[in-house]
Formats: sequence, C-alpha cells, structure tokens
Amino acid sequence: MSTKPETDNRMEKIVSLCKRRGIIFQSSEIYGGIGGFWDYGPLGTELKRNLRDTWWRAMTREREDIVGLDATIIMHPAVWKASGHVDTFADLMRECTITNKRVRADHVEAQTGSIIRFTGARAVLSEGTQGWHLDRTLTVLMKQGEHIESFRKRVRQLIAQNAGTSAGKPEEIELLGEERIEVVENSVDYHPESGGLLNEARPFNLMLKTYIGPTATEDDVAYLRPETAQAIFAQFRNVCDSSRVKVPFGIAQIGKAFRNEVTPKNFTFRSREFEQMELEFFIKPDEAVKLIHGKVATWSDASDLSEPKPDWGWEMWHRYWVAQRTGYYASIGLGSEVLDYYWQSREDLAHYARACVDILFKFPFGTDELEGIAARGSFDLTQHQNHSGKQLEYFDEELKAACDAMSAEQKASFIEETFSQRTNPKASREEITSTCEKLFKGLYIPHVIEPSAGLDRLALAILTSSFDEEVVTDIKGKSETRTVLRFHPRIAPIKVGVFPLLKNKPELVAKAREVVAMLRPHMNVFYDETGAIGRRYRRQDEVGTPFGVTIDFETFGEAFPELKDTVTIRERDSMDQKRIPISELLPFLLGKIL
Ligand code: GAP
Repeated sequence: MSTKPETDNRMEKIVSLCKRRGIIFQSSEIYGGIGGFWDYGPLGTELKRNLRDTWWRAMTREREDIVGLDATIIMHPAVWKASGHVDTFADLMRECTITNKRVRADHVEAQTGSIIRFTGARAVLSEGTQGWHLDRTLTVLMKQGEHIESFRKRVRQLIAQNAGTSAGKPEEIELLGEERIEVVENSVDYHPESGGLLNEARPFNLMLKTYIGPTATEDDVAYLRPETAQAIFAQFRNVCDSSRVKVPFGIAQIGKAFRNEVTPKNFTFRSREFEQMELEFFIKPDEAVKLIHGKVATWSDASDLSEPKPDWGWEMWHRYWVAQRTGYYASIGLGSEVLDYYWQSREDLAHYARACVDILFKFPFGTDELEGIAARGSFDLTQHQNHSGKQLEYFDEELKAACDAMSAEQKASFIEETFSQRTNPKASREEITSTCEKLFKGLYIPHVIEPSAGLDRLALAILTSSFDEEVVTDIKGKSETRTVLRFHPRIAPIKVGVFPLLKNKPELVAKAREVVAMLRPHMNVFYDETGAIGRRYRRQDEVGTPFGVTIDFETFGEAFPELKDTVTIRERDSMDQKRIPISELLPFLLGKIL
C-alpha cells in the first residue's frame, strides 16, 4: 500500500539526494565551491552518459541523414565575430553604486521604500584617529517596514565591506549628510539585495575569454565556445566534401559550452559550464524546393509529419523537428504531462530566425526552457562565407537538372515572382536576381533548422520528474517513507542490483557472483550483500535502479525442484516480485533497457 506524503522543498530534497548518493556535487566544494559550476559523481556520470547516448542514437545512429562532429572548444576568434557573438552575445547589466554587484537589467525586482541619500562616510579607527574618508554620494533604498536604525547599520556594513578598505569595523563608520529624498513605489532602480542605487544598463558579454600562447595580449584573446553550433557551420564544407551527404541532411554534436552567466541559478539549470546537444539540419531553401517540385508544402496544406517529403519547405521541417524531439522526450519518460511549448512571437525572434519554439519543462521552480528549436534560415553559413571568404554554397544536382529544363521566360518569371514575394523588404532586385541565377546553376546556401538541447538541463528535468516519495506499509503494518527515482530503465545509472539473500552462505554468494558476471558485459550492475534485503532494495530505489535480482535458497531447488535455477526479480516502481529462470534474465533485462 502506498500514499503520497507532503513533497514540499522538492528541490532541496533533490539537491541533497544528489550529493548524498553521488549524482551531482558542487565543483571545488572543498574550497567553498565556485558559482555556476557542477561536477557529476559516479551515478550522475552514468546518468549523463546514458542521456547523451539516447540523444546520439536517436539523432544519428537511427537515421541515415545525420552525421556527427566532435570539434574543439576553442576556435579561431573570427568564428565568434562572424556569428555575432562578439558584438551581440550580451545581457544588459546594471551595477550597484555601493557594492558594485551586477544584476541583469531584466531581473531587478520592483521595490517600495524611502530613498535616503548620504553625502559620504568616514571611518574613525580609534579615539581621535581619523581613518579613511568616502567622498561621494550614496543613495540607498530603505525598504518599507525597515527601521531607520537597522537601515543605518546595514548601510554602514555595506560600506565597510565594499568601500575599498580593510580598515574599520562597521560600528566605527560614520555616515555623513543624511537626507530623505523621496518615497518610491515599485521602483526597479535599486539593487534587490543592497538597496543601493543602480547605474545605467550596460551590455555585458557572456563569452568566457582566454589567451592563446605565452604573451597573453589582447591580440591573443580566444573564447571558450558559448554554443557548439558554430563549429558545425565552420566545418560544413569539410563534412560535405568528405562524407556522402546530400541536402537535406544534418550534423550533430554534443559537447561543452561556456557562458559567463550573470546569475547562475536553480542548481544546474543555469550554469557557467554546461553541455549542449545540437543538431544543425540543412535543408533546401523554399525557392529551390519550388523550382524542383513546382510548389512548397506548408503546414496549412500538409500536416502529416511522420515521414519527411521532398516538397517540404522550412515550415514543415521545423514542425517535423518539434515532433521528433517530442517523441524523443517521450522515449525517455518525459511525456506531455511535464512538457509545454512556447512558440516565439515575431517580436521575440532573433533577427535571423524565422521561427523558434522552446520546449519547456515543468521544473519544481517553474516552467522553463529545456530545448530551443529554431529555423535559422541561411544566416550562419552566409555569415561564415562572408567573413572567411570561403565558398559555403552547396551544389544540388536535382535543382540543376530541374532548372536546366526551364525556358528563359520561365526563369524570368520566377525571378519576378521571387522579388514580389521576398520576405526581406531590404533585398534589392539585383540581390534577388543574383540569388535566382545561382539557383538556376544548382547553387544555394542551405537553410537550417536547429534543435538545441542542454544535457545538464535534461539531467535536471529527469531528476526532478523522477523524484518521488511515498509512504509504504509492510505486511506487519509498519510504515516508512520510500524515496525513489523513477528513471526510465533506458537512462537509469544502474540497471540491476544483484543480491544474495544472505552473505554468510557461500553458495548464495557464488551464484549471485555468477549472475553478475553474466549481466555485466551488457549493462551496469550493482552487487550488494550487506544489510537486510529490504534495506538493499531501498538503497537501489533511491538511485533509480529499475530491477533487483535476489538469489535465495529456491535458486537451488531444495524445497521445490521446479524452482531450480530461478531467481526473484523485483520491479522498482510496483515493488512486484516474480520468479524468472536465470537463462531468461538477460533477454528480459535487455528488452527493458535498450
Ligand atoms: N545554438 C543555439 C543555442 O545555443 P540557446 O537557447 O542559447 O541556443 C540551447 O541554448 C540550450 O542549451 C538551452 O535550451 C538549454 O537547454 C541549454 N543552455 C543554454 N544556456 C545554458 C546554461 N547557462 N546552463 C545550462 N544549460 C544551458
């Protein structure tokens, strides 16, 4: 029998379980940790590896049209100039004029209170001895309900900690020229923690910098990649030239990305070092589809997404990838009850994107982005072609053949039609004509659909959706809370626990070891002989092991010969147990975990 206990503090419980059972640790914890960086322990490493493998399998091995790439984290800095990251990959930040602490301009909470201004402050070190003198205006918000004396104490502390001196304790600081200026309501001009006046918003680039070579001058600056995608664009030519790929096709990559996030938060959700799983799927531009097929299938006239069709335009491909990714999430246990979708509005879209859908997950701290699926047009390859001077156009034989069969009049009217239907109003007639002339030769820059997911975010989504606590009552009426991670067997770090009923019976231990040796080449197995069998089950429930196998005296067929060479298999979620021949164990488990 089971009931649901109160499951508040869900995130705290998950974070604590992750540490206790070796799933996720704070990076450099023995030195106090470092904000926005996390390490995966023995079980977290397995979980992440399994997730990575499911993605890789779904995106490459199970498909004919996607190949892989494993590029470096540091690339030529020109890549980031071309991609726009050097100039525009920034958050708008505001800085507290007292503590210099930064806050994202769009994350400032509205506050109500009185604005108090001081003309400065000075520190008196000991009787009669004057210490430093702070000669600048300090404007601070005294929160509604805050007592003036505790407010002054707080300001003295802020100054002592941040005014650039080690001299003087807070009590020894004297605030000068106090004046109450005004009362403000719902103001976003004061730092949410200190109450200090915020300065004007300024862009703060999120890329982490490093230096290549020993001189470490500004000429040697390089960046840790903020996304894995750009390497795919930069290697597009090489992949085309070296592999037998034909548009439409994709290049997939999994790897580390780095962002100097201003406010890393919600455990691993927003980290500074994280892993991305990205696909750049290259498709024919709609104009090429039209030249080949005479029309472009759009969502309004063809809504069957099960199999790609040759006449699909970008809209159908975009929707196809949303459906594919949704199917992937379902295959690892994240169904429609935990997912949501946000179709970005025209105003939300980046200037190069035609459409973008965020797949959202219902985290305990709120519904937020798990993956973004963007239709990026030809923006990235065009940028890299322009900046590198290298041809990144693709030659499409099918397109060339279709155009060769067209008359000069048909081509002229195609140019006319393309110009009149252009989506970019700034595109001149010359530009459109030149693009069309290229198309007639079979040449174009492919367009891109990009499903981009975060591996750490996915691991967090899986952890939070799998975490469960239930009160279980045994046959003697004794109740206890069972913590269980209900991982899909495919992604569980340990697939099966193997337990001899008693550790002091050598024949049980030997048989259990035999079972372990049989299973180990195929899956991650955990052998445990210590403690009562119920305890051993609970320990595995807590880390999401889907199956437990117990070797007992029946395995030897002593009382019931028909049970010889059978074991008990227990299923984690239902806690049901059944006997199964040892010879059927491997196929049974493989059927569940593959
Ligand atoms: N190439 C497109 C791109 O990078 P993005 O929306 O910035 O798009 C894609 O990132 C995914 O990477 C996000 O949906 C998220 O899962 C993950 N991600 C982005 N920033 C992250 C961070 N600071 N910490 C953890 N995951 C992050």
